[in-house]
Amino acid sequence: EEGLHPTKYPWVHGEYLKTFDHQALRRGFQVYREVCSSCHSLSRIPYRSLVGVTHTVDEAKAMAEENEYDSEPNDQGDIEKRPGKLSDYLPSPYTNDEAARAANNGALPPDLSLIVKARHGGCDYIFSLLTGYPEEPPAGAVVQEGLNFNPYFPGTGIAMARVLYNELVEYEDGTPATTSQMAKDVTEFLNWAAEPEMDQRKKMGMKVIIIGSALFALSVWVKRYKWSPIK
Ligand code: HEM
Repeated sequence: EEGLHPTKYPWVHGEYLKTFDHQALRRGFQVYREVCSSCHSLSRIPYRSLVGVTHTVDEAKAMAEENEYDSEPNDQGDIEKRPGKLSDYLPSPYTNDEAARAANNGALPPDLSLIVKARHGGCDYIFSLLTGYPEEPPAGAVVQEGLNFNPYFPGTGIAMARVLYNELVEYEDGTPATTSQMAKDVTEFLNWAAEPEMDQRKKMGMKVIIIGSALFALSVWVKRYKWSPIK
């Protein structure tokens, strides 16, 4: 059963040759970290990939160091705890899927690394889902015990409750943290997570166009110049 079709929103990074808004990515990471990461992993993202995108090297290092990871076994074969490094991946909230389900009424919060690509509707769907919980389900809607009504979720009964509320986080750049602002920022961040190479691709496309046009113009001039004596 399909969910309600999400509205098409004018994502800036969706425009031809426009890169991600990195200030928005930084805010979106903050939303992921402070809100979503208590249930959802982002297992394909190492701290180092945030450097130069949302954070400075020192900031990324400091965040990595806040977590503990298993060390390589030492000579005795013992595994110890060590602070995180830039090369470590963002930690998962649960040790395994069973633990994740046990904490979420049997439902599994999916890893968010590729969710923007994995779900039909991409950014429009994620944004609509996060902002689409009505105060109350519409009259006549049947909502299973333990599920929440969301018209955008296929089947309309979703195990995740509404998580975003005005002013849930405090943005350091002063942007008002409304529900829709946070939803927009975290969606853009998740799009970056799924396509971290997008900016590079677009910048390369720009170079191809500029250099290609210059070479083409040059070839037109050379052709005219060479042929001019026999015109
Ligand atoms: C499912 C995003 C926070 C628990 C999902 C899905 C997305 C998502 C995109 C997949 C929906 C689908 O399958 O189409 C987010 C974002 C969050 C967030 C961006 C932060 C802003 C949370 C939190 C919890 C949670 C804090 C736990 C308290 C779940 C669960 C599911 C889910 C259990 C599975 C739902 C089901 O299959 O019925 N979330 N989530 N989420 N989320 Fe979240």
